Amino acid sequence: MGVSILALVYIIAAVTFIMGLKMMSHPASARQGNIVAGAGMLAAIFGTIFLYRNDDGSLLGNKLWIFGGIIIGTIIGVMAAKRVKMTAMPEMVSLFNGLGGASATLISVIEFNHLADQGFPADKSGAGIMAILFSGIILGNITFSGSMIAWGKLSGKVKDFSFNGQHIVNIILLVVSIGLSIYISSHLQATTTTILFYVVFLLSLLYGIFFVMPIGGADMPVVISLLNSLSGLSAACGGFLYDNKVVFTGGILVGAAGTILTVLMCKAMNRSLTNVLIGSFGGGGAAAAAAGEKGQHKEISLNDAAVVMSYANKVMIVPGYGLAVAQAQHACHELEKLLESKGVQVKYAIHPVAGRMPGHMNVLLAEADVSYDNLLEMETANEEFPSTDVVLILGANDVVNPAAKSNPASPIYGMPILDVEQAKMVIVNKRSMKPGYAGIENELFYSPKTSMLFGDAKKVLQDLITEIKTL
Ligand code: TAP
Repeated sequence: MGVSILALVYIIAAVTFIMGLKMMSHPASARQGNIVAGAGMLAAIFGTIFLYRNDDGSLLGNKLWIFGGIIIGTIIGVMAAKRVKMTAMPEMVSLFNGLGGASATLISVIEFNHLADQGFPADKSGAGIMAILFSGIILGNITFSGSMIAWGKLSGKVKDFSFNGQHIVNIILLVVSIGLSIYISSHLQATTTTILFYVVFLLSLLYGIFFVMPIGGADMPVVISLLNSLSGLSAACGGFLYDNKVVFTGGILVGAAGTILTVLMCKAMNRSLTNVLIGSFGGGGAAAAAAGEKGQHKEISLNDAAVVMSYANKVMIVPGYGLAVAQAQHACHELEKLLESKGVQVKYAIHPVAGRMPGHMNVLLAEADVSYDNLLEMETANEEFPSTDVVLILGANDVVNPAAKSNPASPIYGMPILDVEQAKMVIVNKRSMKPGYAGIENELFYSPKTSMLFGDAKKVLQDLITEIKTL
């Protein structure tokens, strides 16, 4: 009876994962989607703890260890999630991915040692189990060490590092790890089995480090998404190993979602995955050198900016990473309401890779209760720019850089961008003339149509609101 109830719990959990994912595809239902999938996961965990039966029919033991781990993990997780800033979310996701990979590796190590103690099966089933164990080790270790390096890079603790021929070394590391895994799986009785197993362990850890080390800063979100998908696949190996369908389903869903996201992000930047992995995009020097001729920029006063926006028919706000840094979303919504009360039509143009993670701007603006109907996707926004009087760019840079269309030498050449220069006037708010994440100059800032409004986005918006109210 226990087993059948557990099977039912697993099915319900798997369904909640799928429902949750579906709900996460829209900002309005994303929060509930998270809760639905989380509740399913909780049911699966407690179902396993209290209903799972061992081969001899006994229930799971070690409850003290299990609950000790759950309580400690929950406390750390809740505290970390509450403290993390929106701009540091990619780092947090990276840490989570890494821990997922480490768990998959530990499962494989423990099960390998079980097999070693019991004696490896001599028949073909032994090779099959070993193939799953090695997949878990290799995927799990790459995810773990790669995610730790990604976390270090994003938080500024680890610098880009590469050497001549690194990609060849990487390929050798991967090929040797896989080759050794195949050799061990078909020579299980050899005395060197355990030693070689740990050689694969070390090589795959090393591969994860070498794989992420040279990747340019601006490509880190894509790599994190890729590592996320690997963490799902490594978890799926655990599900396969224990014949646990809910772990398997969850792992495959994470693997598939991470892969789709990786592809979408590459598409939004018009880059191939290979180019992301070996292109060293956003590395600074070369990218900056590819910038076009600089001209003279002009500034606009707060009062003038307030006047042109108040008397415009249509204002398009372009949010970027700087808006998130300044936490200016609420001030931005207030400005939108104020302009609307004066009869101005206000919309937001959302670039798919604005900010530092997929959906960053949507989540940020949703937090400030900005209506989803006012958020335009890039294609729609580009159609509307020619009929826009004023574009207000708030802390965005690369996603409005025309070099993506006009300068084949630019590292962002080919990336679809927001065609803001089609509007009658462009006001750019940022703190300085410094480049954005890709490390390249932006000729938009020197265009005759553009005026710079320097300062922290939140402070500038608050001052603009005060100015408009006095008009
Ligand atoms: P960025 O190009 O990074 O530009 C952000 C700008 O915000 C900076 O130029 C900075 O200039 C300004 N800024 C920083 N703090 C500010 C503050 N407190 N107030 C006002 N401005 C501030 O941002 P973007 O246009 O959103 O582009 C995103 C970049 O990330 C792209 O290169 C994209 O390819 C990359 N990327 C994103 C993703 C996802 S999924 N979102 C994935 C991969 C790569 P100052 O320092 O002068 O203020």
